[in-house]
Amino acid sequence: MDPCYFVIFGAAGHLASEKLLPSLYSLEQAGCLGESLGIIAFARRDWSTDDWNTRLEERLREEPGDEEVLARFVKRFEFVQGDHNDPAAYGKLHEAISRPRQGVCESVVFYLAVPPADFLPVVERLDEAGLNSAGGNHRIVVEKPFGTDLASARRLNAELHRHYREEQIFRIDHFLGKETVQNLLVFRFANAVIEPLWNRNYIDNVQITMAEDAGIGSRAGYFDRSGTLRDMVQNHLLQVMSIVAMEPPVSLAAGDLHAEKIKVLKSICAVEADKLDRMAVRAQYSAGHVNGMDAPAYRDEDGVPDDSNTETFVALKLNIDNWRWSGVPFYLRSGKRMGAKQSMVTIRFRDPPHQIFADTPCAGAEANRLVLSIQPRETIHFELQARKPGLDMSSRLLRIDTDYRSGDEPALDAYATLLLDVIENDRGLFIGFDEVEKSWEIVQPLLDKWQGNGDGLCYYPAGSNGPAESMRLLERKDQAWRDTV
Ligand code: BG6
Repeated sequence: MDPCYFVIFGAAGHLASEKLLPSLYSLEQAGCLGESLGIIAFARRDWSTDDWNTRLEERLREEPGDEEVLARFVKRFEFVQGDHNDPAAYGKLHEAISRPRQGVCESVVFYLAVPPADFLPVVERLDEAGLNSAGGNHRIVVEKPFGTDLASARRLNAELHRHYREEQIFRIDHFLGKETVQNLLVFRFANAVIEPLWNRNYIDNVQITMAEDAGIGSRAGYFDRSGTLRDMVQNHLLQVMSIVAMEPPVSLAAGDLHAEKIKVLKSICAVEADKLDRMAVRAQYSAGHVNGMDAPAYRDEDGVPDDSNTETFVALKLNIDNWRWSGVPFYLRSGKRMGAKQSMVTIRFRDPPHQIFADTPCAGAEANRLVLSIQPRETIHFELQARKPGLDMSSRLLRIDTDYRSGDEPALDAYATLLLDVIENDRGLFIGFDEVEKSWEIVQPLLDKWQGNGDGLCYYPAGSNGPAESMRLLERKDQAWRDTV
């Protein structure tokens, strides 16, 4: 059932301005928003709907689009002024939502683009104002972080469930909205030649890297309490890992995808306390150069305490205890202020079982690798050995490299895909609480060990590929971290 209203809490904030509004606008341009959908911008600012619309137009003129579509889009909006912590403001919201729109309409989407500490207060106010269920059709969208550790995530979930059922809660992980992450599903399950190789018999190790050249910008307040383990590993990295490692789902239905992802998360071996140093490395950036510019050390960033031990880099080795993956290490890595922005999955295949080229110059040739680059280049890159032209029997690496998108195919922001799914009530790309819970369980031993101390914290210069210590996780030299496509 399509909703009649899409309510944005925190409409004047950064997330709304940078992601939600441009994405809804791109859905308008693509003709994906039903005629009867109204959008309510809820924020504290003392604005009227006209004030809001003027600002909205200004902002969206920075995006591709035309005046006619913009005018149609802006007409959908109503601004409701109020503090989302003030119960009185919800009366105004109730009134706005009760205004009839065309057609039959029984559901409302509430997007909580507010600080995590406000998730629960907003939901409680919605409930008090009688806006929690409408016969079970209303939906709430919750951003990450969902809790700050296992216990707080469980508490938050239990509280949310006092007001909304699981089917009404959409937990967003924006990496799942990226087309190249969804392509992992298509690449694996729409090609008969890939799946037979996708297991411990042919794969030596898997690496998943999410590197950023950017630092923490103006987010010190959030990031210094969070760190990379909570900010990237517990959610984005483990989600991508679960898609890379999952069994073929019965169908693309939300429940079927979910069933396979949770099986992977459940099969990840616990990081044992006495092996932590062999399984994980944490580090923080020191001063360096990024993209030709001087970059300060993390501790010298605005808002970061001089003695902060928060990690800006994590490398992790995980094993999956099941038939498909037993014995295959999954190396995960994410860091801020690294040499370049690069998210990718690298599959390193095993060496051929019998070396007929052992006594020729082909001996010791590099293993086959498949690199699925998520961003910024959206690429499928395969490395194979082929004979090198000439009289000798020698080989060289053949690189088969193809772009996911051709030049004229527009790129949709991850949020556009996810917002449309919420509107269409499709939960396939959203995270179930059991996934959140399992993911916290996986990282909890590290949180416990690292919390409040700097034991074993390593350093890497801004602009580098991370600390040399991350090499200690690798089982063999020829498993070296892959830094570029
Ligand atoms: C967010 C993190 O979830 O993902 C940020 O909070 C990070 O710290 C961002 O920068 C990366 O996302 P993307 O889409 O820019 O790669």
